Amino acid sequence: MFRMTRYIKSLMHPTPVPPPARPPGPVVIWNLIRRCNLTCKHCYSVSADIDFEGELETDEVYTVMDDLKSYGVPVLILSGGEPLMRRDIFEISHRAKQMGFYVGLSTNGTLITEDNIEQIAAVGYDYVGISIDGLEATHDWFRQKQGSFADSMHAVKLCRQAGIKVGLRFTLTQDNFHELPDILRLLDEHDIDKFYLSHLNYSGRGGRNRKRDTWYDMTRQAMTMMFDHCHRELQQGIEREYVTGNNDADGPFLIEWAREHYPDQVDALWQRLVNWGGNSSGVNIANIDNLGNVHPDTFWWNYTLGNVRETPFSQIWSDESDPLMAGFRQRPRPVKGRCGDCHYLPVCNGNTRVRAYNVSGDFWEEDPGCYLTNQEIGVAESDRRVATPAVEIPVHNL
Ligand SMILES: C[S@@+](CC[C@H](N)C(=O)[O-])C[C@H]1O[C@@H](n2cnc3c(N)ncnc32)[C@H](O)[C@@H]1O
Ligand code: SF4
Repeated sequence: MFRMTRYIKSLMHPTPVPPPARPPGPVVIWNLIRRCNLTCKHCYSVSADIDFEGELETDEVYTVMDDLKSYGVPVLILSGGEPLMRRDIFEISHRAKQMGFYVGLSTNGTLITEDNIEQIAAVGYDYVGISIDGLEATHDWFRQKQGSFADSMHAVKLCRQAGIKVGLRFTLTQDNFHELPDILRLLDEHDIDKFYLSHLNYSGRGGRNRKRDTWYDMTRQAMTMMFDHCHRELQQGIEREYVTGNNDADGPFLIEWAREHYPDQVDALWQRLVNWGGNSSGVNIANIDNLGNVHPDTFWWNYTLGNVRETPFSQIWSDESDPLMAGFRQRPRPVKGRCGDCHYLPVCNGNTRVRAYNVSGDFWEEDPGCYLTNQEIGVAESDRRVATPAVEIPVHNL
């Protein structure tokens, strides 16, 4: 995750560069249930409104939580499918809070109503993230349910009224790119604390629909818009939190933005971002799916490291023998092509390996989602990617 606000603030108000953070354990994103009342076109968990057999029972979830706690995991993001469809979600959430985890709820929001908002507030979630993938028509089409935008925005309102920290999560595609300015306006209108722009990752239905990924030039425009917007708000004294995910080229692209706006701060920003460390799949991010399978992150459901019913998470995560995990933990990662040659590699850490794998069949190929130019990354113009980012070519055609 790239914490844009933090870094733009550091450009505006420089302070000494802090040393690299060393979290005690990975953030665990836990898909507690795969069932969902929506069937979004990009869904990595390929969720639908059917029962998925063999999901972890409540007592099994608790056993895993105890292990996660003793292993030093600081954060649990409870996700799905739709986590509010799990009948024991509030029991699990209360227990997680009592154990001292930072607990986030990752929800589509449509099941948050007047009937359960008090129960949700009583948990004391540290953060509730609600997905909004465009304005009403686009969102309802993308999430394949009429009325889902209205229900999700109603949930945002209920959460805000209940004093819950709430964020919108927006997955950028060709279909909603043009609505990003309107979505940014919604944040202000509804006094929303946080905005998470998620780049499309190529797994599950997101893999099948990867041709809907933004063109490079769109991504560049979207990110420039985000930087400018966040910068403007900070100048006005508004401290909303902007973060992005699934494209660690956002770090280097902010350095490129800083060259224009804060040239004397570029070196400090570069060092801050090296300390941030870029992509952290398999290192500071872990995933447990609904069946208890452990993956290097949420987008690697086709790659299983073990199952918590057979082996504790702590043991699975500490095992150094898996080749993909060994690569994830290597600095620099053994990436190839443009990624291997790029001078920003220490910043972005090779970006998103799922996209490379989905497109090439090789974990360590260049990430086709990197939207930086050859000139920006310091490689020869003749380097092998064929398209220039200014040309409107979908990523999958490269
Ligand atoms: C799988 S959903 C589960 C929680 C809940 N059902 C929801 O939609 O928010 C978690 C988040 O992942 C995002 N997501 C799903 N598939 C994705 C993909 N292929 N690339 C990027 N983000 C994706 C969703 O938009 C959502 O914000
Ligand atoms: S992205 Fe979320 S709401 Fe959409 S189908 Fe997947 S789990 Fe359901």
